[in-house]
Amino acid sequence: MDPQLALVGQLLFFDPVTSLSGDNTCAGCHGPNASFADGHSITIGVDNNGVVGPSRTGPRNMRRSPTVVNSVLFPRLMLNSRFESLSGDPFDNSAGFLFPAPEATSLSYLPHLMAAQAFMPVVDEIEMAGDFPGTRDEMRAEIARRVDGIEDYRVQFGRLFPEVHEEGGRVIFDHIGQAIAEFQSTLVAANAPIDQFARGQRDALTNAQKRGALLFFGKAGCVGCHAVNVPFASGAEMFTDYREHVIGIPQIVPDVTNASFDGPGTDEDFGLEQVTGDPADRYAFRTTPLRNVSIQATFTHNGAFVRLEDVILHHLDAVSSAATYSPDELPADLQNLGPMEPVLARLDPQIANPPSLNQDEFNDLVDFVCGGLLDDDAHPDRFMPLIPRGVPSGFPVHTFEPIALGDPCLDGS
Ligand code: HEC
Ligand code: HEC
Repeated sequence: MDPQLALVGQLLFFDPVTSLSGDNTCAGCHGPNASFADGHSITIGVDNNGVVGPSRTGPRNMRRSPTVVNSVLFPRLMLNSRFESLSGDPFDNSAGFLFPAPEATSLSYLPHLMAAQAFMPVVDEIEMAGDFPGTRDEMRAEIARRVDGIEDYRVQFGRLFPEVHEEGGRVIFDHIGQAIAEFQSTLVAANAPIDQFARGQRDALTNAQKRGALLFFGKAGCVGCHAVNVPFASGAEMFTDYREHVIGIPQIVPDVTNASFDGPGTDEDFGLEQVTGDPADRYAFRTTPLRNVSIQATFTHNGAFVRLEDVILHHLDAVSSAATYSPDELPADLQNLGPMEPVLARLDPQIANPPSLNQDEFNDLVDFVCGGLLDDDAHPDRFMPLIPRGVPSGFPVHTFEPIALGDPCLDGS
């Protein structure tokens, strides 16, 4: 890792210069106050009020912003895996990086999947770009032109990339993408009690967590999807198979959205089908990596659940969880539900035939997922100091409000 490159990337992550609409940043949706996820169930992109936290307002997009902590290690990114390193290793571009059209494999020359990923949100109309005219490449060129015009960035990129210094040299979006990726590669937190236990520290897990772990890897069947043996080094132990499954999460539809929801009633999210075009993939979402999952404000692709216990309970009886589900605990503008029956009709067999756990077993399982997978270094306390006091563009830095992430591990056990 190059700390100087990461430092420039940190500034860009927080600098609205990367937003053609001028009002958003990566941090606007992946805030250090939410451990680089979002406190909202469904994220708010452009046309926001400059606040990151509970009082952020503006039209909603379609999904929750997942954390970017550890995502440098993932071979498949996004909640429907639509960005993928075909070698199965995000650090190896030899088989190409596959994105949806129009990018397709054109970003494969970049050194890392994350550097390619940074090309996407900046041209997304509802995330960062607004209705800026031009092709996607023209939009990226315009961002690079703006960054190149800021002395501070030019000097810093000039030190890092000699070609910027040369006669006629300039900052291009490749440099920006690599810097933002380098910053995100500093955001790793994967030393949890389970890891310490695996290295021989027998007391790293409590007895309840040990019992919970035996259930997770055994009778409860969690490891069937939240896998730790994916066949490549970097992202193997992230508690995901990086595959999509239908687990029957209720569909949440915002009152005001700038996204295009799916289905005849435009009140659905088709998940993986959006990528493959195959109706058999409808409602399938990527198995969520579970490290540090307890320090989230909301859970699943649309934040339908606000308590870790509830989303785990849902896995153990999706049909009755869906039948009794109420969006009461979500904000007032997220009270509409899309259809549920077609989702339940496609449940993954493992979810349709769940294991049966008694209350003590359930409590132990929650305790393990909550505390056993939590690296204390994933806490917002570590990340809040990363907010720059000012950014080179001179744009105001967003206001980051405290977010109640709760401590469900305490009530869970
Ligand atoms: C408007 C909010 C918004 C902005 C701005 C935004 N993101 Fe995201 N990000 C999301 C959402 C929502 C997802 C998941 C979307 C999906 O799967 O459809 C996501 C996914 C990701 C992922 C994949 C994580 C995973 O688990 O696979 C990475 C990495 C990421 N964003 C990085 C960035 C970077 C870097 C920027 C700035 C260049 C950025 N994001 C800007 C909302 C945002
Ligand atoms: C059939 C595969 C499968 C099995 C088995 C499974 N999960 Fe999941 N799990 C998923 C998928 C897919 C998601 C993401 C769903 C979404 O976002 O819509 C998820 C989400 C979660 C989440 C929420 C994380 C977040 O923020 O989105 C938790 C917690 C979780 N699973 C824990 C468990 C536990 C504990 C077990 C064992 C009882 C288990 N899972 C079994 C596939 C599975």
